[in-house]
Amino acid sequence: MGTPHRAFGRWIVVFLLQWSFTWRSGIVEASHVVHRDLQSVSPSTIDANLRTGYHFQPPKNWINDPNGPLYYKGFYHLFYQYNPKGAVWGNIVWAHSISKDLINWIALEPAIYPTKPFDINGCWSGSATILSDGTPAILYTGIDPNQNQVQNIAFPKDLSDPYLREWVKPDYNPIIAPAVRVNASAFRDPTTAWLGPDKHWRVVVGSKWNKRGKAILYRSRDFKNWIKAKHPLHSMARTGMWECPDFYPVADEGRKIGLETSMHGRGIKHVLKVSLDLTRFEYYTIGSYDLQMDRYLPDTALADNSTGLRYDYGNFYASKTFYDAHKKRRILWGWANESDSTNADNAKGWAGIQAIPRTIWLDPSGRQLLQWPIEELEALRGKHVHYTHDKILKSGEYLEVKGIQNTAQADVEVEFYVSNLEKVEPFDYAFSTDAQALCKIKGADVKGGVGPFGLWVLASSKLEEKTAVFFRVFKAGDKNVVLMCQDPTSSSLSPDLYKPTFAGFVDVDIKKTGKISLRSLIDHSVVESFGENGKTCITSRVYPSLAVGSDAHLFVFNNGEEDIRVSNLKASEMMRPLMNGS
Ligand code: FRU
Repeated sequence: MGTPHRAFGRWIVVFLLQWSFTWRSGIVEASHVVHRDLQSVSPSTIDANLRTGYHFQPPKNWINDPNGPLYYKGFYHLFYQYNPKGAVWGNIVWAHSISKDLINWIALEPAIYPTKPFDINGCWSGSATILSDGTPAILYTGIDPNQNQVQNIAFPKDLSDPYLREWVKPDYNPIIAPAVRVNASAFRDPTTAWLGPDKHWRVVVGSKWNKRGKAILYRSRDFKNWIKAKHPLHSMARTGMWECPDFYPVADEGRKIGLETSMHGRGIKHVLKVSLDLTRFEYYTIGSYDLQMDRYLPDTALADNSTGLRYDYGNFYASKTFYDAHKKRRILWGWANESDSTNADNAKGWAGIQAIPRTIWLDPSGRQLLQWPIEELEALRGKHVHYTHDKILKSGEYLEVKGIQNTAQADVEVEFYVSNLEKVEPFDYAFSTDAQALCKIKGADVKGGVGPFGLWVLASSKLEEKTAVFFRVFKAGDKNVVLMCQDPTSSSLSPDLYKPTFAGFVDVDIKKTGKISLRSLIDHSVVESFGENGKTCITSRVYPSLAVGSDAHLFVFNNGEEDIRVSNLKASEMMRPLMNGS
């Protein structure tokens, strides 16, 4: 035991060390690292090298969560968390873009920015609700002068303007302030509200109490006065802060239609998705919404914690769905952050993209959701190749996909037929809930029995650089386990890059189907892949140094012992849409 003086001295040293560390490298606020020194450093140049060609991006600066997506009078609107002054998180406003097709985007002036005490320190994430008379309303989190998180409302100034350019924040804000026993620094990201049969609106706000994640429920008769319900809609121990919750109905029996957020009753299941601040991943459950009790009950077969189902097993966070009344579908937006360094972002002058919007619906099995890039994306397909003849890939073989020039900006679809499952590797049950750990050991270059087989995308001509998107089959008793991975460990020769391998299991009976399908959207620094028609999705950010622009190549490969038959390979170059004027 040291003397009190020594202990105090040690404490001072620790404090100073921590303080200087924080000062130099930034602090964490709302799960984002705050670089005070870089927050308002306007980029002097924009590095276009690895900018995406058809993903949603503003011309420069930092973006994070998609906010308040909605459809109104012929236009889709996307708002998003944006720093108008720099390429790191800070000075957050709601930037605003509009589109006729969710692909071509026009940037408008920011819609919501700090002006009033109830949001003077930030306008954070939230959602849009179309009220019963057709008026859109935005609910968002404001940071007040005491750094408390409060919920505010905003309405369009002019309902006859289909662009919804200007938004008004009534003086009666905030409409929801943190109550007693609500953690005022963990109380944010209101969902789209829904109307119950009792004509009361409901909304959920993400929160935590100690380590218990919570979806705190509020009710209102007039959308102005909100009262906290006795119980949260749902909560779960040891999951930490629930950011960006999303709660919505889906049609059962695999009907591929979207449902308006207030729908309930027979033939309808509900989905609750939360973004976990602790793991930086999201998970969702499918379950039942008990309107009497105003509680959500996940189906018992599903894990209700960080090992649960994910929309995307990669770099995809703070997502949000909306009901598209125009095409009667539900659409999912999600943010794909950079995974290079802050210095690199600052030098590039931009950071963050939105993943391609996806249609989302319930799998006929009821066990998971399915996702597919919105059909409008196909309008961007330009020059393409279609391999009408199947190709057998023997163990260790690979084949370059030729016939299109720009594989750095492409949409690729392919089917892999697996005829013989004799040589499958045994499955190690220790990895049952951790596909990522399994894929880390069994990467694309580790030979297997059936697989790894798949695509090498953003590959240099001599394969020094490549990102592998692949499957590997295992045997577990009399069943097979199919693993899907995205392995960027060789994606770039640049040193010091963060290159996480991502993976998920695919719910497919490959013995029965004899094949598995893959679609990959490749766009310079992002690869978004959809396994088995959208059952398992993985997004990665990658930063090749050689496989850039016309020097990027595309291959199919097989590193398993068993032959694989590659069938129906279609690869299209993607054209550039209008993208916010960049
Ligand atoms: C998620 C998040 C939200 C918050 C916003 C701030 O990425 O931390 O919880 O509202 O970003 O930009």
